[in-house]
Amino acid sequence: MDFENFKKAVDAYNTNPENAEELVSRHLESIERIGRGDILKDQNIKIVDVGTWKGTCVQVLRNQGFNNAIGVEQNIELAKANPRLVIQGMAHELPFNDKTIDLITVTDMFSDPGCSKSPDYHKRVLIEFARVLKKNGIVSIIDCGIPHLIQISLDDETRLIFNILKNDENLGLIILEKIV
Ligand SMILES: C[S@@+](CC[C@H](N)C(=O)[O-])C[C@H]1O[C@@H](n2cnc3c(N)ncnc32)[C@H](O)[C@@H]1O
Repeated sequence: MDFENFKKAVDAYNTNPENAEELVSRHLESIERIGRGDILKDQNIKIVDVGTWKGTCVQVLRNQGFNNAIGVEQNIELAKANPRLVIQGMAHELPFNDKTIDLITVTDMFSDPGCSKSPDYHKRVLIEFARVLKKNGIVSIIDCGIPHLIQISLDDETRLIFNILKNDENLGLIILEKIV
């Protein structure tokens, strides 16, 4: 599939709310499966869905009772369209204070043209995630595009910040736990 067709397929997938339910289930079930279901027991946890598009996954999380879920999206028009669910912002400059977030979910953002610049950018984003996460906070990444680039970003420096709980290139799934 060439890039344009890949992008159209991803866009069609992302705009379908049923797929958002499936995506959220994949994030939450994977977190439970790797033994960190404890974090989901408290529905007041602060969840940020980064690269959220129109916030469809955030809406699914809210429907499940996670009322402190919010999305961050670089595109100002998308963010303005649903300010209840989405804040405009960049993945590498999140509009949150240090150590305030319990869980970050990311679906197909790293392979998006707005993000797939280089492993250096991905690493910068991971370091920003570590800044806002509480100790033992979780990052769950699902990416059908270029998970290998994220793997490269998990170098010696990021490994000092994160435990890699799951790293499955075939599933395009990476789950990280902030160490400190
Ligand atoms: C393929 S869409 C995925 C949307 C959503 N996560 C979903 O699965 O329904 C990728 C989204 O990430 C956003 N994005 C890409 N790079 C970003 C960055 N560096 N910071 C914030 N958002 C970004 C894009 O604008 C786009 O809305």
